[in-house]
Amino acid sequence: MQRILSGITPSSTKGLHLGNYLGAVKPHIEYQETHQCFYFVANNHSLNTVFNSDEVRKNTLNIFVEYLAFGIDPEKTTFFVEGDIPAIFYLQSILNNVVTISELKRMHAYKDKLQKDIEPDTISMGLFSYPVLMSADILIFEPDIVPVGEDQAQHVEICREIARTFNNRYGEILKIPELSIKKDTARVPGIYGDRKMSKSLGNDLPIFAPVEEVKKQVMSIKTDPSRIHPTDPGDPAKNLTFTYFELLGFDDQKLEEYKEAYRKGTISDVEIKKGFLTFFLEHFNEARERKRNLLKNTDKLHEIRETGAKKANGIAQKTLEKVKKAVGL
Ligand code: TRP
Repeated sequence: MQRILSGITPSSTKGLHLGNYLGAVKPHIEYQETHQCFYFVANNHSLNTVFNSDEVRKNTLNIFVEYLAFGIDPEKTTFFVEGDIPAIFYLQSILNNVVTISELKRMHAYKDKLQKDIEPDTISMGLFSYPVLMSADILIFEPDIVPVGEDQAQHVEICREIARTFNNRYGEILKIPELSIKKDTARVPGIYGDRKMSKSLGNDLPIFAPVEEVKKQVMSIKTDPSRIHPTDPGDPAKNLTFTYFELLGFDDQKLEEYKEAYRKGTISDVEIKKGFLTFFLEHFNEARERKRNLLKNTDKLHEIRETGAKKANGIAQKTLEKVKKAVGL
């Protein structure tokens, strides 16, 4: 079985949203049947943006629990928290010697930060070296494939480049992973229709939020603006609610009925959204309930976290030993 690896940065207190689910979590869950999976909460990565320790801990645990609630199976998958694997930072420091400043200056995260009109010399080394941290957490587990969204592709490319440079210098030590870019479904539109769904833009449909909060977001989904009265004919293509229905695999026939009513002007936007809210909550009911139950059982959670760390540490340590030997440490 091919080994697949992916990480998710816990950079926000808000939980996972529909975009995260369709773009990342759902495929991750599916890979469990066909691949040997390594998934982790990349809390080391969050240190370059989240400076409050309680927040780091809270966000990390929250993402950890939500992944489990969605159906990550810790029996099948090596599921862990990045910060529990000390060898990752160790490898990052070694890899800092096989990458140049000019290579890192080409990275998006750094360039985006520069765009924000900030003095270049005040950018932290953590942010600058972030692609090297990501390379370390990939290379240490020797995956065959790393599936990522478009925005992270460049980081996997530099990871491959770092591994090649290392191997040229020291021999065939590091396994060079394949990059797999997830297209279309990875781009779930935000509720206002103009940008990709993102927590920081506030245009998300949160999956684990209280019902009232989910409802508020659903009621704000962009609809056909030329429709003034509920009896006006509307264009379903201009009401994003239909897009979300489709993305979540709502029954084709029922959806067609809704669309027909919308075209004729016999159903209001509010009714459609109410229908969607019910469907959305039902769709994620099991996951929402599992999260509540997991949070009640902190012993179990700790046990899962520890077992994952143990498995991951075993593998990481082996790679690190090979690397240390190769460089002469
Ligand atoms: N940097 C990635 C993100 O922000 C998360 C991540 C960390 C990751 N390490 C990884 C993804 C390794 C894939 C492989 O989305």
